[in-house]
Amino acid sequence: MEVVIQSSARAAADLAARLIADVLREKHRPVLGLATGRTMEAVYARLAAMHSEDGLNFSGCETFNLDEYVGLPAENPHSYRHYMNHHLFSKVNVYLRNTHLPDGVAADLDAECGRYEQLIAHAGGMDLQLLGIGRNGHLGFNEPLSSFQSRTRVVTLAPETIRQNARLFGGAENMPRQAITVGVGTILESRRCVLLATGSDKADILAKAVEGPITSMVSATALQMHPDCVVIADAAAASRLKEGDYYRAMFASSPKWAKYRDAASQRLDGHPNEMLLSRGRNT
Ligand code: F6R
Repeated sequence: MEVVIQSSARAAADLAARLIADVLREKHRPVLGLATGRTMEAVYARLAAMHSEDGLNFSGCETFNLDEYVGLPAENPHSYRHYMNHHLFSKVNVYLRNTHLPDGVAADLDAECGRYEQLIAHAGGMDLQLLGIGRNGHLGFNEPLSSFQSRTRVVTLAPETIRQNARLFGGAENMPRQAITVGVGTILESRRCVLLATGSDKADILAKAVEGPITSMVSATALQMHPDCVVIADAAAASRLKEGDYYRAMFASSPKWAKYRDAASQRLDGHPNEMLLSRGRNT
């Protein structure tokens, strides 16, 4: 696992978007695992901008989302299908038929979970799996005690998850109690995992996920066993990490991260002209 700390939430989301863009450029038929939620909105906005401004091409890619609420059809504005269409798919040149989410209204939910798992296997697995982290450490909707070998299945949402997402539904009473989620075992089979955490409300759980003991009580700790996992955090989410200085030194000096460092310093966290102006002032 590598941890990359960026100064702002925007810089962290930009870096996650760049890692995804690199897969889209480098792979012939890229397969992306995608997540929803507040954190990902900035990543999808950046990817949409890369498509409209730089022609980033999504036409060859296939996508699989991590999860969907049971009982919500695609047209429901709270469904994750609706979220994905709104934030990303309608803004880039992906073929909708190549975008997959579990069907939360399937007549046979267990059969739907098996079908989804097979679809992922048929696509050859994920080249890159994008992940957020819940306040209880969930990945997708793998709530505490999810087996590290779990596959796509129906789960009951934990009280903490209901509290976290209730505001989006106008109250906990309106929120589905179950969801279909890809399993921790399925996630661990992705060739690369990229977890993005921003904001101070993720600081405690991120410290547990990255530096705490591996335990199924915190699903995200499973990523410590993944051979190619990058955790990207903004300064607020990284504030409780004990080894923050080491992670910053790693990013500052590792040749592997050079091209991402340079891009970040040129943008100066989203103010492209600032560097030119400051150069002008100093010379
Ligand atoms: C949703 C998903 C979840 C979220 C997590 C964080 O598809 O995978 O694990 O990533 O709940 O959500 P936000 O970003 O809203 O804090």
